[in-house]
Amino acid sequence: MVRRRGLVRAALGAEPGDRILDVGCGPGFFELELVEEVGAEGSVTGVDVSPASIAHAKRRSEGRANLSFHEADATALPAGDGEFDRAFSVQVLEYVPDVGAALRELRRALRPGGRLVVWDVDWATVSMRTADEPRMERILAAWDAHLTHPSLPRVLTPLLREAGFEEIRMEAHPFATNELTPESYGGFLVPFVEQFVGTEEAAAWAAEQRTLAEAGAFYFACLQFCFAAQAPR
Ligand SMILES: C[S@@+](CC[C@H](N)C(=O)[O-])C[C@H]1O[C@@H](n2cnc3c(N)ncnc32)[C@H](O)[C@@H]1O
Repeated sequence: MVRRRGLVRAALGAEPGDRILDVGCGPGFFELELVEEVGAEGSVTGVDVSPASIAHAKRRSEGRANLSFHEADATALPAGDGEFDRAFSVQVLEYVPDVGAALRELRRALRPGGRLVVWDVDWATVSMRTADEPRMERILAAWDAHLTHPSLPRVLTPLLREAGFEEIRMEAHPFATNELTPESYGGFLVPFVEQFVGTEEAAAWAAEQRTLAEAGAFYFACLQFCFAAQAPR
């Protein structure tokens, strides 16, 4: 997650004085980093549909005048037209049923020439070692069911264009590990998927992954995608 935040911040290219919007901010990890980049003249605003995440984010950021959090849906942003210089949304749009509406809202909230960064995972690229492929396919299919768009990056370029964005750039970042530790994306995901799927079969799959890790044979890889685009000038 730390590596991913660094890649998103580099793509966003925040400058002192920028007004930045984060759609689907979760507990606000990005905001505390970005507020340093924009300085006292700039501001960072986080929006999330989850009241618990917004409450958590507000607690973590108490006393910061240029940092604010609002409970709202990505398709109805609490933002004026052209209010923001830069906006981003990290692993959020894959959950949003009407991605086109969310992108049009982001475009509305950005000033002419403002920059957007969208990051999502193509979950079909998840590759792991297992002795029981059909079982792992069932586990990953059950995991995909919690997402509205498990392979959103495949269609994001035309969706961004249809929402009016220009200069659309896409970069893929492999996230791969041979260690089952909470510090790695794959290592964090195994217990998370086990708990989410919540079946005996999922527990058996996770046990297989732990056994592989103990033998020094764990393997995880997936592709995550960073899209950068400009609002028209
Ligand atoms: C995987 S988390 C990512 C959190 C944060 N962007 C990050 O990278 O740390 C997905 C977040 O999207 C939020 N979310 C899902 N659907 C949403 C929607 N329609 N509008 C706004 N936020 C949404 C969830 O509440 C959750 O906080």
